[in-house]
Amino acid sequence: MLKFLFIMGTRPEIIKMAPVVIQARKQGNIRAEILHTGQHRTLAEEMFKHFELTPDYDLAVMQENQSLFELTARITKGIGEILSKNSYDMIFVQGDTTSAFLGALCGFYQKIPVAHIEAGLRTQNKYSPFPEEINRRLVTPIASLHFAPTKRAADMLLAEGVEEKYVKVTGNTVIDALLQSVEKEYELLPGVERILDMPGRLILVTTHRRENFGEPHRQIFQALLDISKKYEDVKILLPLHLNPNVRNEAKLILDNKPRILLTEPLSYRNFIMAMKHSTIIMSDSGGVQEEAPSLHKPVLVLRDSTERPEGVETGALKIVGTNRQTIVEETCRLLDDAEAYKKMADAPNPYGDGRSSERIIEEAYKYLENLN
Ligand code: UD1
Ligand code: UDP
Repeated sequence: MLKFLFIMGTRPEIIKMAPVVIQARKQGNIRAEILHTGQHRTLAEEMFKHFELTPDYDLAVMQENQSLFELTARITKGIGEILSKNSYDMIFVQGDTTSAFLGALCGFYQKIPVAHIEAGLRTQNKYSPFPEEINRRLVTPIASLHFAPTKRAADMLLAEGVEEKYVKVTGNTVIDALLQSVEKEYELLPGVERILDMPGRLILVTTHRRENFGEPHRQIFQALLDISKKYEDVKILLPLHLNPNVRNEAKLILDNKPRILLTEPLSYRNFIMAMKHSTIIMSDSGGVQEEAPSLHKPVLVLRDSTERPEGVETGALKIVGTNRQTIVEETCRLLDDAEAYKKMADAPNPYGDGRSSERIIEEAYKYLENLN
């Protein structure tokens, strides 16, 4: 029996790791445990519920408006206590969060092989996304196995000197999760149902990146207001991240405005339904940039750079930054120019075929077999 530990802490890590945990448990000879750092609380609970998973350990570290210093200390101590009492054949971390980086670091302290899911994404700008670019880069020298979602991500790792035999192109597990849920029709929250049923074209917006706090967020929200005033047939849905830095700013500018609905974060099911109903998606989220091309929804990326350039190259994503005027202009173009819209919507999805989890578990097996 092999013993795997999946360390996760935030909404996207749970969405992207759930299919891998489920795949590992299907094998019969793997004990797959979940360590939830609790970096997120409500956002995480909702995702565990959706995938019918229960963490074996929950460090419950989240605090209101937590600083990176405190978060880092609490997570490290908590993981350390669990690793010093249990043994594992492999630790899995996903992506670029503080939970992912510290999961890898603690695995290294205990000399347990670490597998990095969604390895090799880079902007090459250490402050964008912040602190994620550096979190992700720091996992690389620690990890024994690197699961790159695309060939481009794999090439990035090879260029940094990672040995080829430890780099596997698997696709992104976010597509596994999406394809397992997207065909179903889910019950909607009343407010969400009302806005989806309203006549008009839907713009779905999410934003939560630390580098967008303050003035960039004000510009984004002002742009949304401009767009809603310009187009009477456009409705805007903005599920607000629970981070108070995002919520306060959004409410000041957008609360109680016609055809703009601010909601709590949506359940994964409701969010998928909202993506399906949308005409345009605007987001600074990593996961949303990967999901939307599968649903043929153009994404205007509310950031100055992206570690997901594949979608920009296929034409599914466009980086528009956070300048109010640019956001309005780019949105108007998509709303007014059917050809420009079609070009983005028809672009292929470069992020996976829904079978990434199978590949990951297979490669993890092979790696451990070769060790023995
Ligand atoms: C974190 C990740 C980011 C990821 C994002 C996904 C880091 C440094 N950041 O950012 O990479 O893209 O999650 O959503 O790892 N909060 C709640 N309830 C929750 C979750 C958050 O109230 O369930 C509030 C708390 O006030 C918390 C704050 O949001 O202190 C920030 O949470 P944190 O995990 O530090 O950063 P995120 O901005 O969520
Ligand atoms: N998501 C969700 N409800 C929402 C907003 C996003 O379920 O209200 C999902 C979305 O489908 C995607 C993931 O959350 O899979 C993205 O998470 P987030 O934007 O928090 O993090 P990032 O991907 O930027 O790290």
